[in-house]
Amino acid sequence: MNPASRTFERVAPERVAKALEALKDVLKEGQVKRDEASLDAYARDESDSGVYPPDVVLLPEDTAQVSAIFKACQAHGVPFTPCGARSGKSGGSLPLRGGVAVSLERMNRIRAISSEDLTAVVEPGVVTGDLMKAVEAQGLFYPPDPNSWEVCTLGGNVAENAGGPRALKYGVTRDYVIGLEWVMPDGEVLRVGRRTIKGVAGYDLVGLFVGSEGTLGVATEITVQLIPLPRQVMTALVVFPSVLHAARGVSAVLAAGILPRCLELIDEVAVQAIVHRGSFQFPTGTGAALIAEVDGNTPEGVFAELKQLGDLCEAQGATQTLVAQDASQRDRLWAARRVISPALRALKAAKISEDIVVPRSKIPDIIEQLKRMGADLGLTVATYGHAGDGNLHANILYDGPSQRPLVEEALRRMLELTVALGGTITGEHGVGHAKREYLALEQAPALLDLQRRLKAFFDPSGLLNPEKIFPALKRS
Ligand code: LAC
Ligand code: ZN
Repeated sequence: MNPASRTFERVAPERVAKALEALKDVLKEGQVKRDEASLDAYARDESDSGVYPPDVVLLPEDTAQVSAIFKACQAHGVPFTPCGARSGKSGGSLPLRGGVAVSLERMNRIRAISSEDLTAVVEPGVVTGDLMKAVEAQGLFYPPDPNSWEVCTLGGNVAENAGGPRALKYGVTRDYVIGLEWVMPDGEVLRVGRRTIKGVAGYDLVGLFVGSEGTLGVATEITVQLIPLPRQVMTALVVFPSVLHAARGVSAVLAAGILPRCLELIDEVAVQAIVHRGSFQFPTGTGAALIAEVDGNTPEGVFAELKQLGDLCEAQGATQTLVAQDASQRDRLWAARRVISPALRALKAAKISEDIVVPRSKIPDIIEQLKRMGADLGLTVATYGHAGDGNLHANILYDGPSQRPLVEEALRRMLELTVALGGTITGEHGVGHAKREYLALEQAPALLDLQRRLKAFFDPSGLLNPEKIFPALKRS
C-alpha cells in the first residue's frame, strides 16, 4: 500500500493544549509555532511518503527544554516526533499522529573541536557540512558525507545512521559517534558512551541509539571522533558504454584490492537526467559512468591508484578515464552527482527512490534483474549511487497516481530480489514510515518482536515517534 495514502488516528487537540499549558513557563514566545505555514512545513520531508501536519512545532534551545517537552507530552498523552532539517528520505520525522514536532534545529553550536584528542562535540542541529568545513580548517576529517550534507544535521545523521559516498572507505555515522547526551522518551537525560577513542564499558548503547530513527530518544549532544585529513584527493569520471559494463568495472576494482574512497555509479537514465538538466556535459557516447575518488598522502601514490583503477575499468569496457584537474572540476563532478535525485524527479510526474544494498559481488546481477523487471512492468528504473559498497539508489519513475499500483508491485519485486540476493531493504535512509511494511521481507517474526519489545521497554506509552519502523500489527 502506498504509505502516502495511509491515515492515522490523530491526538485530541485538548491534550495538546494541556501539554502546552504545562510548558508555558519553559518555552519563550517564538519557540512555539502554530501558524499554518509552519505546520505545513513540518508536515513533510524528502521521502514523498505523505503530508502529516503536527498540531504544534516546538523549538527547544537546550537539553532541559527538550526534557521538559518530552515530560509534558508523556504526562498528557501527546505523541511527539523529533526532527532536524526534514531532509530524511524514509518519513522518519513525520508526525504521523499529529501532536508535537520537536525540532532540534536551534541547538546548532559546534561546542568543541580537539586536534589533540581527534574529537568534536556538537549539538544536534549543526549542519553536517558546517562540521566538515570547521574540522577541515584544522587539518582534520569527518568523513560521513550524506549527499544532503549542505542542509542535513548531525542529529538527523545520528537518528538515521546516515552514510554517503565516502562510506566505502570510511564507514558511516555510527563508526564516528563515540558519545551522546541522550534524552530518553520519558525525559530523563543520560550520558552514554565516552570521549575516548576506545572503550568497552557496559552495553554499546551508542551503537543502539545511532540508527534508532528517532524512536528511542533524541541526542542533545554528540561526540564524534575525527581522523587526520588526507593530504591528497583525486577524482575521475570513468565512462562506460552501459551500466552493466560499469557494474562489472566496480567488481573488478574491488576484487583487485583497491579501496577508493568513493565509487559512485551513474546509469543511463541518470546520465540522461543530468544532461537534461544542463548540469554537466558527458563525453559523447557516454552510456553510464563511475565517479571514482581516491585519497592518500602523496600525489604519486594517489595517482598510481587512480591509474590502476582506470586500467581495470578499461579492461571491463570503459572508454575513457577523465581525471579532474583541479578543485573546481572536482566540485563540478560531485555537483552532477548530487543533482541526480532532483534531476530524475524532473523527468516524470513522480518517482520513488530506494536505497537497497546487495553484497557487492551481486551488483551486476541486481542491476540486470531490475532492468528486466522495469521492462516487464513497463516502468522506467534508474539506478545510481554508492555501488562500491553495494548500496544502490534504485528509482522508479512513473506518470502519477494512476500508475501507483504498478509501482507498488515493482517496489515489492525490487525488495524481494534484493533480499533474495542476500541484501537489505535500506542501506542509509532508514525504514521509517515509507518502508515499514517491507521490513518483514528481511527480518523474521521473532526478530521483529524482539525489537518491538525493546521499543516498548524504552517507551512504554509509545508516544515517541509512533507508527515507525515495524510493520503495523494486524488488529484481531
Ligand atoms: C544520495 C541520497 C539519495 O545518495 O542518499 O543521493
Ligand atoms: Zn545515498
